[in-house]
Amino acid sequence: MFRFLTAGESHGPGLTVIVEGIPAGLNLNKEYLSRDMARRMQGHGRGGRMKIETDEPIIRSGVRHGLTMGSPISILIDNRDFANGNGPDGTPWQQAMSIGPSENPGAPITHLRPGHADTPGVVKYLQDDARNILERSSARESAARVAAGSIAKRFLEEFQIEIHGHVQAIGGVHAPSSNKPDWNAVETSVVRCADGETSARMVEAIDKARDDGDSLGGIVEVVATGLPIGLGSHIQWDRKLTTKLAGAVMSMNAVKGVEFGAGFPQADLPGSSVHDVIKPVSEWGSESKGPWEQPYQRNTNNSGGLEGGMTTGEPLVVRAAVKPIATIINGLPTVDLRDGQFVDRAHFERSDITFVPTCSVIAEAMVAIVLAEAMLEKFGGDHISETKRNLQTYRSSYANTRLP
Ligand SMILES: Cc1cc2nc3c(=O)[nH]c(=O)nc-3n(C[C@H](O)[C@H](O)[C@H](O)COP(=O)(O)O)c2cc1C
Repeated sequence: MFRFLTAGESHGPGLTVIVEGIPAGLNLNKEYLSRDMARRMQGHGRGGRMKIETDEPIIRSGVRHGLTMGSPISILIDNRDFANGNGPDGTPWQQAMSIGPSENPGAPITHLRPGHADTPGVVKYLQDDARNILERSSARESAARVAAGSIAKRFLEEFQIEIHGHVQAIGGVHAPSSNKPDWNAVETSVVRCADGETSARMVEAIDKARDDGDSLGGIVEVVATGLPIGLGSHIQWDRKLTTKLAGAVMSMNAVKGVEFGAGFPQADLPGSSVHDVIKPVSEWGSESKGPWEQPYQRNTNNSGGLEGGMTTGEPLVVRAAVKPIATIINGLPTVDLRDGQFVDRAHFERSDITFVPTCSVIAEAMVAIVLAEAMLEKFGGDHISETKRNLQTYRSSYANTRLP
């Protein structure tokens, strides 16, 4: 069973992630994880925090001499801001976020921020300082998820499964749709968009939002290729891969919608133009990898690689709609937690203008985690060689059942 758990506050000493269920024998090192951690921190529109942090993942267990041992992998990520920085009222974070009692805890946050966890959080957890809510609800936690996702990606690479996240829209500026984005171009774009001209317009939109004291949301897409047919299951609601993927992507901060393949627009179309026709072998053409890799091929991929809660063998295509950042420089009106009276501006805490490029990296991590779990559920294995053998046996069994 593959699972992971994160801990840590945004301005506390650091984050911890524990990943369990990765088989023994997988090559894993800090440099691999660091690459993904660095990708999470980039993107035009991020705020000052990203200039402070370097997100160095410290592997504390589960790996020996560069190979996993099958035991829980734990990773620490220090918050550099804790050691060196001060809160919005000038209180050093070491005091404001001290684990023990502090003589200088800093001013409590009582001007509740609309669009954040502050209001339901202070009521539910009986808090008189919204910092006790926002420190955990902050997307700083996504650094721990990206570390877990990076381990999942490393595992999936062993099966030639590739996962890429990119940006499709920021603030209403949409990239032209493409079946095969240029992933190298995505990695060099400051907004993680494959199309150069659209990237430039997205940057302009972000700069304008900054000048206007506003914030922007957008749409990110994750594409996974090389998946075997039949991950997930149709037999129970919570075993559908669709359920797990949607839940994992929706669990990301600020995500307000998830769609697969042709997505919401297919609701307006007739079935004849939506469903992906299954091609006879005679029409596969020379590019086909053959029945070993994929026993059935399609003309289109409107399903986004999922039918009946299972993978079809076509690329998995998931998109997420991300709301604009809730903390805006020209803060929204709100109330004071102490007396419920009107306040013209909510508390302002250092903030991004947009985080959409980063969301594409986090979404990639969440999809990788779900796919690693699905691969291990189907193929198991305490050592990676066992997982590979099980996949090979499955592939040969479905090739044999269909072909003479
Ligand atoms: C990578 C990332 C960075 C974020 N940075 C900020 C930020 O700087 N300021 C802000 O107000 N919200 C930011 N958010 C959004 C909040 O974490 C989140 O939307 C908010 O607390 C409310 O949560 P909800 O939209 O999931 O209900 C960020 C989200 C992500 C995914």
